[in-house]
Amino acid sequence: MARVRVIPVMLILSFFQCKTLFSTSLASGQRDVVDALVLHNILGITKHESRVILCWNNNLTKEETEKYTVKYILSYKFFNTTHERKERLQEKKKIIRLELHSGFHAKVKTQLFAKDTEDIIKESGWTEFTYKAPPVYIQNLSCIIYNISFFNCTWHIKTEAPEDIQMFCSLRHVGKDFECQQYIQNARKKNIGCLMKEISFQPSRKINLNLTVRDLRNSSGGVSYYKAFTPQTIEKLNPPINVSVSLENRSIKIHWKPPPTIGSASSKCFLYQVKITDRKIVDVTSEKYKYPFHKSANKCAAQVRVKKEICMRNKIWSEWSEPVFIHDENTVDVMVLSLTLFCVLIFLGGLLICACRRYRCLEVITMPVPHPSDNIKTWLAADETHHQKQMSMQMEMNSEVTMGIPDENVQQQKCLKESGLEDL
Ligand SMILES: *[C@@H]1O[C@H](CO)[C@@H](O)[C@H](O)[C@H]1NC(C)=O
Ligand SMILES: *[C@@H]1O[C@H](CO)[C@@H](O)[C@H](O)[C@H]1NC(C)=O
Ligand SMILES: *[C@@H]1O[C@H](CO)[C@@H](O)[C@H](O)[C@H]1NC(C)=O
Ligand SMILES: *[C@@H]1O[C@H](CO)[C@@H](O)[C@H](O)[C@H]1NC(C)=O
Ligand SMILES: *[C@@H]1O[C@H](CO)[C@@H](O)[C@H](O)[C@H]1NC(C)=O
Ligand SMILES: *[C@@H]1O[C@H](CO)[C@@H](O)[C@H](O)[C@H]1NC(C)=O
Ligand SMILES: *[C@@H]1O[C@H](CO)[C@@H](O)[C@H](O)[C@H]1NC(C)=O
Ligand SMILES: *[C@@H]1O[C@H](CO)[C@@H](O)[C@H](O)[C@H]1NC(C)=O
Ligand SMILES: *[C@@H]1O[C@H](CO)[C@@H](O)[C@H](O)[C@H]1NC(C)=O
Repeated sequence: MARVRVIPVMLILSFFQCKTLFSTSLASGQRDVVDALVLHNILGITKHESRVILCWNNNLTKEETEKYTVKYILSYKFFNTTHERKERLQEKKKIIRLELHSGFHAKVKTQLFAKDTEDIIKESGWTEFTYKAPPVYIQNLSCIIYNISFFNCTWHIKTEAPEDIQMFCSLRHVGKDFECQQYIQNARKKNIGCLMKEISFQPSRKINLNLTVRDLRNSSGGVSYYKAFTPQTIEKLNPPINVSVSLENRSIKIHWKPPPTIGSASSKCFLYQVKITDRKIVDVTSEKYKYPFHKSANKCAAQVRVKKEICMRNKIWSEWSEPVFIHDENTVDVMVLSLTLFCVLIFLGGLLICACRRYRCLEVITMPVPHPSDNIKTWLAADETHHQKQMSMQMEMNSEVTMGIPDENVQQQKCLKESGLEDL
């Protein structure tokens, strides 16, 4: 359903009616011809949901239109904004999307140009128009895409909004409609945001957001507001991945990889920032950053963040990546220290086992050692020769172990030599 209103506006530019001065000579007579033109602009609008179609015309004859290049200057400004949009158009129509604006002021004028020189030879005055829509109770709408398939929109409800309204949100993308999956509510249980996930965004297609304000006392459909977004311009990237730091030739080198993205993943699209403790944040366009190592900075953290800048304008930075720590070569790190200690212990343990294997001391430990005072009768009853054999064996072993102690260093050397670790 479209309401059509046409507002004719007459602009008598010239009261100079002197048809006798008409001349075919452009050089001398053009001014007079032009002065004789009486421009009569007509400006009309058509409202189509959230779109307002502005149309205009003039009453130049076909002959005159062919004689000159006709262009229009359109200027419009939404209510309560300061930004005035100005365009030079050749067509006589402009679609203005209201989004969350409650109206605008527009004005249009006609300009005539000489076909050969492109010089402006005449222009009309402004034809003005004001379009007023019902009040809008929503402001500061902002939406972001994050983690590839997640979508987050938030908005504020104006204080003058009636108590009994509620906001509903849906979006259309690549011909599919998505209802809001989870509303964010304020203390008064009004929806002030919406979270959605698992939407596969197509970088080349628009996201059309539909925000509908319903009067809860009323079963009427409510008023819908629409805003379109280009996915890549509202994408908040995940932080860069695989961030690593290495010390190289007395300089610190930080490497990373770009995060996944819905649009072009060409490496020239990304702009990075590197933050190192106590240093100024630096912009980097490659996937690495190198800087000279300073003694003073004995422990610092490096973080990287990213946004798309070069092939797509995007103002939203990713979060900073998890910090990776850079250590001075001389700084003894607790982790490294404990790891070294652990290794040394393992090594010593290995040596001990090695030495023990060689001298069968393990067998002594594992072999059951009879206690002479225990069950003496049983022992006496047992085979005498067996008992003696065991006793002598035990004696032999004990002597070997005691003998092994002063000899240990020699044996260790042997072990080391065998395992090729001597020079450690
Ligand atoms: C344009 O309209 C005005 C006012 O109606 C009239 O005076 C003028 O002659 C018209 N001009 C042409 C070229 O039709
Ligand atoms: C916005 O502009 C309209 C028209 O210019 C005015 O009536 C209204 O009071 C303004 N609202 C605010 C919040 O400034
Ligand atoms: C919300 O929008 C209004 C005008 O549209 C602006 O004055 C205000 O600063 C914005 N508030 C926030 C938090 O962005
Ligand atoms: C990001 O998306 C992946 C896969 O869709 C999901 O497993 C992960 O939980 C998400 N991370 C956050 C922080 O939402
Ligand atoms: C959604 O966006 C708003 C505003 O940008 C933010 O405060 C909120 O934390 C975001 N929520 C999630 C889950 O990302
Ligand atoms: C916007 O959403 C409202 C409420 O869900 C619905 O009635 C309306 O048809 C939607 N508009 C479009 C263009 O889909
Ligand atoms: C119901 O909605 C209509 C049109 O939006 C409005 O004129 C009317 O006042 C509303 N009624 C109530 C009770 O709010
Ligand atoms: C990031 O590191 C993980 C694990 O180390 C590896 O599997 C993955 O391939 C790396 N990704 C890139 C883009 O290098
Ligand atoms: C270190 O610097 C020297 C000379 O400047 C160079 O030849 C060598 O390739 C560098 N090493 C590395 C790993 O960059």
